[in-house]
Amino acid sequence: MLENKTILITGSSRGIGAATARLAVAYGGNVILHGKDDSAELRSLAKELDAEYVFFDVGNEAAVEKGIKKLGSIDILVNNVGISISKPFLELTNKDWDDTLSTNVMGVVNVSKTVIPGMLERKSGTIINTSSIKGYPHTAGRAAFAASKAALITLTASMAKEFAPNIRVNAIAPGFTETATTKDAWTERIYKQIRSTPLGRAAKPEEIAEVILFLASDKASFITGETLVVDGGYSIAG
Ligand SMILES: NC(=O)c1ccc[n+]([C@@H]2O[C@H](COP(=O)([O-])OP(=O)(O)OC[C@H]3O[C@@H](n4cnc5c(N)ncnc54)[C@H](OP(=O)(O)O)[C@@H]3O)[C@@H](O)[C@H]2O)c1
Repeated sequence: MLENKTILITGSSRGIGAATARLAVAYGGNVILHGKDDSAELRSLAKELDAEYVFFDVGNEAAVEKGIKKLGSIDILVNNVGISISKPFLELTNKDWDDTLSTNVMGVVNVSKTVIPGMLERKSGTIINTSSIKGYPHTAGRAAFAASKAALITLTASMAKEFAPNIRVNAIAPGFTETATTKDAWTERIYKQIRSTPLGRAAKPEEIAEVILFLASDKASFITGETLVVDGGYSIAG
């Protein structure tokens, strides 16, 4: 499905990004891994997949440019990095807001701005942004995270319109997905919510990865500007 395609997956040292990287390699893609730091997890996955890796803070425009400049051409960009600060609105500091918006929104802008010129030159490319069901008003909560993920839904549509027909831009909006980070953070209240969704469980990262790579592949050649909800029915549960 991804033969002869080079795919940069931001935030692929662990979680959904790492699952997407493993699956992309299984589908024949040439994967470039990325993390914020030169971590043991990132190095170990790079070794396992025999893949190139880069590391930089996606919120730092200069670091992004420097990190991506040394890479060759990129056919598929998966903007997967995201952080979530779980505090009530009145306890969120301006730094919490800055960190969230700089990582979750400006991170997508910075990486995309650096990758898109090459895609336009080749008149071909696909981009997948990672929103969340929390980006929709009917499931909102965690204000800073929700606001950042809502921004990505509109940003995705705007980018899709601006870069059509050469570049397709889509997003996914995952629901609860079991990763090392989320498993540590989930309380009994969250587990109760998960059990009450129509499918009665959280997603495995591999199930999200399949949808990302579907959107990235030519199988989704007529889809652009869309945010696909992948939540086991959470948002229709009422
Ligand atoms: N898991 C869920 O339930 C869920 C639900 C909805 C949406 N999502 C979204 O799905 C995406 C992946 O989630 P996940 O749970 O798999 O994440 P995760 O396991 O917490 O992994 C986060 C990744 O992002 C990297 N990262 C974090 N901040 C960064 C920064 N400032 N610059 C560069 N890299 C940075 C981390 O790199 P290091 O290892 O170097 O720190 C790591 O590779 C996120 O956008 C998240 O919001 C997740």
